[in-house]
Amino acid sequence: MKTVAVIFGGRSTEHDVSIVTALASIIKPLELTKQYKVEAIYIAKNGAWYWDEKLKDINLFSSGQIQDFLHKTQPTSVQFDGGMTLVKASGIAGRKTSRKIDVVFPAMHGTYGEDGSLMGLLRMAGVPFVGCDMDASVLAMDKVLAKQVAESSNIPVAKYECIYRDAFARKPADILRIVEKTLTYPLFVKPAHLGSSIGITRVTNVQELQNAIEVACHYDSKVIVEEEVANLIEVTLPILGNDQLKPALLEKPLTKPEDFFDFESKYMHGGKGGKKSGGKGTKGSQGYSELPAQLDAELYKKAEQTGLAVYRELGCNGIARIDMLIDNKTNIVYFNEVNPLPGGLYEHNWRAAGVSSVDLVQTLVRLAEERFQQQQQENTVFSTNYLQQF
Ligand SMILES: Nc1ncnc2c1ncn2[C@@H]1O[C@H](COP(=O)(O)OP(=O)(O)O)[C@@H](O)[C@H]1O
Ligand SMILES: [Mg+2]
Repeated sequence: MKTVAVIFGGRSTEHDVSIVTALASIIKPLELTKQYKVEAIYIAKNGAWYWDEKLKDINLFSSGQIQDFLHKTQPTSVQFDGGMTLVKASGIAGRKTSRKIDVVFPAMHGTYGEDGSLMGLLRMAGVPFVGCDMDASVLAMDKVLAKQVAESSNIPVAKYECIYRDAFARKPADILRIVEKTLTYPLFVKPAHLGSSIGITRVTNVQELQNAIEVACHYDSKVIVEEEVANLIEVTLPILGNDQLKPALLEKPLTKPEDFFDFESKYMHGGKGGKKSGGKGTKGSQGYSELPAQLDAELYKKAEQTGLAVYRELGCNGIARIDMLIDNKTNIVYFNEVNPLPGGLYEHNWRAAGVSSVDLVQTLVRLAEERFQQQQQENTVFSTNYLQQF
């Protein structure tokens, strides 16, 4: 039986969301397949790795007992031995327990996980892993780079400017002038690398713009300022696959205008006992949504095609969710951002599209192994006479 290690937690603002994704949407269905031995690896907020069966229990985290657990438990070592092996003290004096990992299933949102860092480590270790590879993850987690790649493939994006913290600190007035000259209010100011709407502000004048850039610079050394998409319909599309792509359903998040971009409304209401209900609304990991999005057939197709094009152009693999902003008057579909690891894998959407949670995780592990085998076939050995001259 193959061993799949699910890695979650991590040094990210989305640490807590990652725990729920890992335990509920990945570990549980993986165990239900009865085809894998599943190991839970939790990365604490300080970056230490822990490996234990107890980490599969959500109560450990929700009750706060995790602090006590971390206090009493030795972090796990990871051995890179032509693969990856977990090693920990077994509790019996001097003895160690170890386990070789066949496939890694990263369940880390945000920095040091979804941003490509973990993927780089796993590539070096030579272990197959689920989801986007390092390069696509790096692009996806940088709102500017992702837009640049999409733009170069003629995929529409909202008009934007990129600002660096150092430059803004040196010459704020010059930068404000450039932004005001090239872009038209209302504008959105966002840290380039963060998710979950942290540090994002909508602004309508230069004073607000300056404040918002300062706030965003507090979180990130790179900031994007972009024009608002008017007559907005927001849609998102989860996609599965390496070469052959399978889109799930186009989904329209239904959040109130006044809280449409705060962390609370995204994760707290939807995740636990949200109050709104009715209509075609579905409770998902990002609050309530319309699933499938009620768009006319042509616009639906166009948004789906845009999502698939972004997935391909950014070089996504395994799974990703593409977010788009539609101007309901001009019918232009703008690419907004990519999530290489959608919260809860967006399993509610996959289920509606006919893919069960069990099928989803199983397919993802298979795609990880397929990509790994393809990469193994790439020739990385090159013989030369170079050393003979020394
Ligand atoms: N250019 C824009 N036009 C209109 N609304 C926007 C624009 N950019 C962001 N928003 C709104 O702000 C929300 C958060 O921005 P987003 O780029 O998705 O950042 P995050 O990484 O936090 O999800 C979006 O879901 C959307 O509702
Ligand atoms: Mg978003």
